[in-house]
Amino acid sequence: MPTNRRMILVTSALPYANGSIHLGHMLEYIQTDIWVRYQKQCGHQCVYVCADDAHGTAIMLRAQTLGITPEELISDVKSEHEADFSGFHIDFDHYSSTHTETNRHFSELIYSRVRDAGGIAVRNISQLFDPDTELFLADRYVKGTCPKCSADDQYGDNCEACGATYHASELRNPKSTLSGAVPVLKDTEHLFFELDQHTEFLKDWTRSGRLQLEVTNKLAEWIEGGLKSWDISRDAPYFGFEVPDRPGTYFYVWLDAPIGYMGAFKEWCDTNNFDFDSVWGPESVAEIYHFIGKDIVNFHCLFWPAILNQANYRTPTGVNVHGFVTIDGRKMSKSRGTFIKARTYLDHLDPEYLRYYFATKLSANVEDIDLSLEDFAQKVNSDLVGKLVNIASRTAGFITKKFDGQLSADLANPDLVEAIRAKGPYIQSAFEMREFSKAAREIMALADDVNAWIADVAPWHLAKSEDTLAEVQPICTTAINAFRILVLYLKPVTPMLAGKVQEFLQVDSLDYETLNDTLLDHSIAPFTPLLTRIEMKDVEAMIQPDVNEIDNPSKSEIATNNEPIAPECTIDDFTKVDLRVVTIVAAEAVEGADKLLRLTLDLDGETRQVFSAIKAAYKAEDLIGRQTVMIANLAPRKMKFGVSEGMILAAGPGGADIYLLEPDRGAKAGQRIR
Ligand code: MSP
Ligand code: ZN
Repeated sequence: MPTNRRMILVTSALPYANGSIHLGHMLEYIQTDIWVRYQKQCGHQCVYVCADDAHGTAIMLRAQTLGITPEELISDVKSEHEADFSGFHIDFDHYSSTHTETNRHFSELIYSRVRDAGGIAVRNISQLFDPDTELFLADRYVKGTCPKCSADDQYGDNCEACGATYHASELRNPKSTLSGAVPVLKDTEHLFFELDQHTEFLKDWTRSGRLQLEVTNKLAEWIEGGLKSWDISRDAPYFGFEVPDRPGTYFYVWLDAPIGYMGAFKEWCDTNNFDFDSVWGPESVAEIYHFIGKDIVNFHCLFWPAILNQANYRTPTGVNVHGFVTIDGRKMSKSRGTFIKARTYLDHLDPEYLRYYFATKLSANVEDIDLSLEDFAQKVNSDLVGKLVNIASRTAGFITKKFDGQLSADLANPDLVEAIRAKGPYIQSAFEMREFSKAAREIMALADDVNAWIADVAPWHLAKSEDTLAEVQPICTTAINAFRILVLYLKPVTPMLAGKVQEFLQVDSLDYETLNDTLLDHSIAPFTPLLTRIEMKDVEAMIQPDVNEIDNPSKSEIATNNEPIAPECTIDDFTKVDLRVVTIVAAEAVEGADKLLRLTLDLDGETRQVFSAIKAAYKAEDLIGRQTVMIANLAPRKMKFGVSEGMILAAGPGGADIYLLEPDRGAKAGQRIR
């Protein structure tokens, strides 16, 4: 036990109960699990809880479509999620749901405390209402013609074609995506959490060293822009918790979701006889960390601390934000087969490969993480199999065959083992700081040192002659001791490998309390292969483009192949269009537009700025330097974010399923296409 034993509560974001876990999610659960396992390995008390996020309109509608109750749906999905998590060895201390009586209790309690402290306002709003289904429509359930550019088939909050943002009631020819009915505006009373009351508190809180610098800076922009009140209620029918003093009104799913962290922890406390308030009460000295993705920062770093503070609970010690997973440099996409479900991965590959690969990519910053499939196979094979396991596989056989499984009484090279042990503090601090890539790099560098030394002393030569055979035992004992420490260091990342190594070495533990142990005069089990190489064919088998599941279902209804050929045009019509080869010299996301990238195009001397709705398909930085084709004589169009001076060409229905046109090698920027 460490002398300063910490009590740490850790959470990952609660996955929605209406879909499967995919490799993007897994980044988060793996990152959190590694950190938690590291804390436990150090002897701290660390409790890791999570839950399914079970409420909301989407879940209610999904259940309707399936002809089951929402309760049945969330229970099925929860079993599936738990099986996926356990497949990846995510070691929750408790996994719950937000749809529990415990969570209802905390949601009502927190709401009433906030209300009694004057934090809630009741306001009339007018919202689009579907007269057929009798549902108020969230923006994503309304489509119509963009009021700015007249593009058809646009969602209720912003236009994919021009990037304009608007209120759903401004759409022309609005239709409910649920029934096709024309929605009507209807007045309704909603509850609002008055976030602006907390501006000063949040200014301090977001700068109090709990957040990554980039997150603090982003939040400062939002806070400077003025904090708006937050609509925390929804009208019946809704799958959620009814607001105690308002029949027919429900808490919005995002109100009771973070409270689910408390609900799950309370259930753990009840079964483990632990005092809940010692962690969540205002006087708590325990640590609380939330691990989340960058898309849900506002919920965790504005609403959540403000609500907790007003409800007389303590706030988290830290909120650790990670970036998004891309696959081979592009967003995950169903049609490209890279929307890989956790289960699909597990059907083909060992979970520890992915745990290790993500570890080599993870740091404490918010950058996106690319799962490059070739690099994945190559790195796992070269590091885990070629470096780490190799140390044991090339030395253990001698111990078994020549020395009856017995390690020697002395080491041939105690300095080597000591040098590896001396890196403990560096590796520990890398894990503590979530700099897993640094830890992995150091561990592999040490494995390189050990392998180089083994190659140098070449026990396989010494074993050939009776004169030198005795030297082999302390050499292999040195290698095995080095191996033990390296596997101990890597244990939070590859717990199953560590478990097998424990059996092989016949030791009880690979926790930090054993770091100083040296295995001498100790017998080990015969070596069995600990890990096999990744075969590229297994990786490829995992990628199956799903033609039925295009990312943007609304658009995929227009099956590309059935799209009618446009009315005839003449060669004169065609030559009016000036198509040019261009080089993309700059690309960036557009603040406030979900789908747009701002591209700077070079036409050999002339540069153009073009806004293009390809953000779901391409990462801005990956486009820089690429060539494509533009319509260079399209009339400039003024958009909310600036003037678009042309258009680039791409194929596909839209969303992430869109493919940029690229000229063959040799084409030069500025050349006209004929
Ligand atoms: N239900 C909410 C969270 C409520 S927490 C009180 C939610 N669920 S989610 O299923 O959409 O996402 C769960 C977590 O997975 C989030 O932290 C999200 O950022 C993360 N990820 C989802 N897709 C991801 C990637 N492609 N890459 C990395 N993380 C991803 O949001
Ligand atoms: Zn538009």
